[in-house]
Amino acid sequence: MTSRCLAYLMWGIWLFGGIPGSLWAQSPKDPNQRCQVCHGKPDLKVEVRPGVFRTLFIDYEKFKSSVHHKFQCVDCHTDVVSIPHRRMPKKIYCLQCHFEGNVVGAPVQRMPEKYKESVHGKARLAGNPEAPDCQDCHTTHNVRPPGDPQSSVYKTNVIQTCGKCHIQQLQDYTEGIHGQALKQGDLAAPACNDCHQEHDVLPPEDPKSSINPKNVVQTCAKCHENERLMTQRGVPVEQVETYKESFHGIALEFGMKTAANCVSCHGYHRILPQKDPRSPINPANLAKTCGKCHPRATETVAKGSFHINPKEPSAGIVYAISTFFKWFTYSVIAGLILHILLDLFGRVRRKRRAL
Ligand code: HEC
Ligand code: HEC
Ligand code: HEC
Ligand code: HEC
Ligand code: HEC
Ligand code: HEC
Ligand code: HEC
Ligand code: HEC
Ligand code: HEC
Repeated sequence: MTSRCLAYLMWGIWLFGGIPGSLWAQSPKDPNQRCQVCHGKPDLKVEVRPGVFRTLFIDYEKFKSSVHHKFQCVDCHTDVVSIPHRRMPKKIYCLQCHFEGNVVGAPVQRMPEKYKESVHGKARLAGNPEAPDCQDCHTTHNVRPPGDPQSSVYKTNVIQTCGKCHIQQLQDYTEGIHGQALKQGDLAAPACNDCHQEHDVLPPEDPKSSINPKNVVQTCAKCHENERLMTQRGVPVEQVETYKESFHGIALEFGMKTAANCVSCHGYHRILPQKDPRSPINPANLAKTCGKCHPRATETVAKGSFHINPKEPSAGIVYAISTFFKWFTYSVIAGLILHILLDLFGRVRRKRRAL
């Protein structure tokens, strides 16, 4: 009984006499100030392991201009009902609102739920703390729409957001033509998530991955088939079509995964234009590039251009070969049909004779 009285007394002093009490009175209109009394202090932190601290500071200015500013702290932290509050309030999950069919109006166009099946979500669930959760890419209390230049997932920022963990990939990307173009403000150049997706990030071996050899052509084609986008930038646009009609394209289409796809010849993070001497498609490096798979590729074979439209007589030998094969195929098919017809004719005649 006495201990209970004491507790009430402590509460009273704390609430009405202490610092929080005064601030309570200062900001009656904004209930969030009840939390910011403590969480508004830049040095509020907890020691998670000896010598390792985690900040509990919430930058209120940022929170108030974030996409969730209409929420009160306790709308999400629903179990923080009294002050001082329990030591470990229950964890909040972004997906508790951002799921298909939610009633609070949380957007899901980019299907954040896919995260659970992604390489990141699975690794996180399996206990790998290095794998990102939603907050690692979006921040916790400064979440902004992807179109906001201050957002951690805005096109020019997202490369740093992914790159803080994938350091080598970011470096290669930055040296490549796509990274250079983005740096110069060309928002049509791909950032990490344009090739990898944002929530559905899967390893290249996964047949569902946007970067699986089977799908990578489509991933590059999103932009490289876009006539307006490419011609504006002086990049030839017929590459995708000529690839699909090439030996490699057809072989890949028929399931031959060892056939060259776009990245087998161009690389993927450090893609460079042909004129760059470091580019794998620079004439000086072609023998090596083709030689990865065609060990006998000679300098001369590799010197020929690659993206050729076999329908154009200007393609020279390729036009000749492809035209030859086209007519060869037709004549083989015609021969086969003739053979079947003759055979049928023969059978009918034999039957007639037997009768
Ligand atoms: C009297 C100061 C004080 C006030 C007021 C306060 N907190 Fe806290 N809060 C703390 C301290 C100290 C901790 C660290 C507890 C610990 O782990 O030792 C904390 C921890 C938390 C955590 C958990 C952090 C973690 O470890 O992940 C959340 C969430 C939280 N507070 C939310 C709130 C909300 C919401 C409010 C307002 C309704 C609020 N707090 C008001 C002092 C305060
Ligand atoms: C839209 C939901 C949402 C709102 C609104 C919100 N929080 Fe959080 N908060 C989270 C999530 C998600 C986490 C991270 C997961 C966890 O620890 O539960 C978090 C974590 C925290 C933490 C732990 C430290 C950290 O940054 O990870 C504190 C402290 C905290 N919130 C306080 C506040 C305060 C104070 C407010 C109001 C100014 C607030 N929160 C508003 C969702 C929210
Ligand atoms: C309490 C429910 C709730 C929680 C929890 C929540 N959100 Fe939201 N979120 C919303 C609502 C509602 C909106 C739309 C706000 C608006 O447009 O005014 C929104 C908007 C967003 C947007 C902007 C989307 C767009 O296309 O404009 C992003 C990004 C976002 N949330 C990410 C997150 C992340 C990351 C977390 C976890 C840290 C989270 N949300 C937690 C309800 C929630
Ligand atoms: C690996 C980084 C990463 C992770 C992890 C991640 N996101 Fe995203 N998210 C992004 C990027 C990048 C975009 C911007 C896409 C664009 O440019 O349109 C985005 C966009 C969004 C949007 C706005 C588009 C929409 O759907 O309306 C929401 C909401 C969102 N994410 C919620 C979440 C939630 C919830 C989680 C956790 C389950 C999460 N994200 C995990 C990177 C991530
Ligand atoms: C917080 C650190 C972190 C962030 C941020 C992050 N990743 Fe990852 N990522 C990882 C870890 C850790 C793995 C390995 C997971 C595993 O398989 O155990 C991984 C795996 C991957 C893989 C598969 C790699 C492979 O060889 O299988 C890809 C692709 C990937 N991430 C792309 C991205 C993209 C794109 C973004 C940004 C939109 C991003 N990551 C943001 C930590 C991160
Ligand atoms: C132009 C498309 C494209 C862009 C942009 C891109 N990637 Fe990739 N990335 C790929 C392809 C394709 C692969 C898989 C190649 C293979 O192994 O078949 C890949 C592989 C990866 C891997 C697996 C490990 C590895 O290096 O092979 C990680 C991690 C990764 N990318 C992260 C990133 C990050 C982080 C960014 C942004 C800085 C980024 N990627 C930008 C296409 C891209
Ligand atoms: C989001 C759109 C987008 C995607 C996806 C994309 N690219 Fe690009 N790419 C561009 C743009 C825009 C440029 C032009 C950059 C510049 O020079 O201004 C470019 C330039 C290039 C160039 C250099 C062309 C030249 O003449 O300088 C090559 C090669 C290239 N991309 C190959 C690829 C490959 C291979 C992939 C798939 C792995 C890919 N791209 C995916 C938009 C994209
Ligand atoms: C990723 C591996 C790979 C790379 C790199 C590659 N190829 Fe191929 N290529 C193949 C495969 C697999 C076939 C299918 C038939 C075969 O095994 O020869 C093929 C078939 C061909 C054919 C059809 C004739 C033949 O030999 O069957 C030509 C021509 C060809 N490649 C030229 C090139 C040139 C030129 C380059 C460099 C610009 C190149 N390839 C790079 C894997 C590759
Ligand atoms: C077998 C190797 C190979 C494959 C596969 C391949 N390319 Fe190429 N690509 C080249 C070569 C070699 C060049 C140099 C110009 C030429 O020969 O047409 C080139 C040129 C280009 C250019 C113009 C670059 C410049 O600097 O002008 C673009 C863009 C391009 N390719 C995109 C793609 C796309 C997208 C794919 C997949 C659909 C693809 N390539 C598949 C070998 C390849």
